[in-house]
Amino acid sequence: MVAQAKLNLFLRVLGRDQSGYHSLETLFQRLTLGDDVAVRVDVVGRTLDCRGADTGPVERNLAWRAAAAYADAAGWPAGFAIEVDKRIPVGGGLGGGSADAGSVLRLLDFLAPAPLGDARLRQLAVGLGADVPFLAGSAPRALAWGRGERLLALPALPSAPVALILPSVGVATADAFRWLSADRGDYRAEARQIDIAALAHWAGVVALAGNDLEAPVAARVPAVSDLLALRLRLLVGQGSGDRGDATPPDTAPLYAMTGSGSTWFLLAPGGDPTVALDGIEAAGGRVVRTATAENVVAPERMV
Ligand code: C5P
Repeated sequence: MVAQAKLNLFLRVLGRDQSGYHSLETLFQRLTLGDDVAVRVDVVGRTLDCRGADTGPVERNLAWRAAAAYADAAGWPAGFAIEVDKRIPVGGGLGGGSADAGSVLRLLDFLAPAPLGDARLRQLAVGLGADVPFLAGSAPRALAWGRGERLLALPALPSAPVALILPSVGVATADAFRWLSADRGDYRAEARQIDIAALAHWAGVVALAGNDLEAPVAARVPAVSDLLALRLRLLVGQGSGDRGDATPPDTAPLYAMTGSGSTWFLLAPGGDPTVALDGIEAAGGRVVRTATAENVVAPERMV
């Protein structure tokens, strides 16, 4: 099945709990871009074949860990063979490893003679990482709090084109959170009162945009600070008539970092996200085009 990537349309860090983990408030959005994930259970032993990108040791791969966690919880299956074809850029804040893990959980439960069910899957997902509960679900969009375990599914908005901007260097998630803590000290904020009705159109989403990890990452990673600096130019360029009158005010673009970076995205509800992207390649970035998803692909049996 296709394991679709995610964006964080906004991401606030509310504070750090005693374990050192950070509590989040974020709006997740699935993309049409995804990896291909297949699982077979009529096998002896446990294997993972991950093609198309270097994702490190098998036992640390989230897809493998998801299957092992499922097997422990369900007592089924003894063996599994996972195949992943990577298309989602690795280590960029797009949730690629987590999407693979979420798909493995869904596929195993779909194939299981006695399925664990969505609530139990979500518990397993929480133990695998903050992005996995959303990416193990079937919602195209959701608000999430805490470590991603509290989710409010939202209906999809009309698909919008997205240009992903991938700097030449990645950022480790742990580093991004550590840098934020170093900059903020002992910081604590309340979750916002979010007007759900405002999230029913792109303009309302754009108005809430912002990622608390952008500034600490940009302060340490020059390639990301170049992308941060581009914001003003991109947004001023779009709003000031570069696109003529074709951009009504309610379709302003959203330009931000996703997750802990280093990927940035330009989401253009009104149309073409390629305008004013000329500075990106000069800043050392690669551009990948995709779109927000209106649906999440369901598991299916291979023939
Ligand atoms: O979720 P993931 O396993 O990718 O996180 C990697 C690291 O990033 C964690 O071990 C932790 O140090 C940091 N992190 C955090 N708060 C979060 C998510 C990640 O502090 N909500």
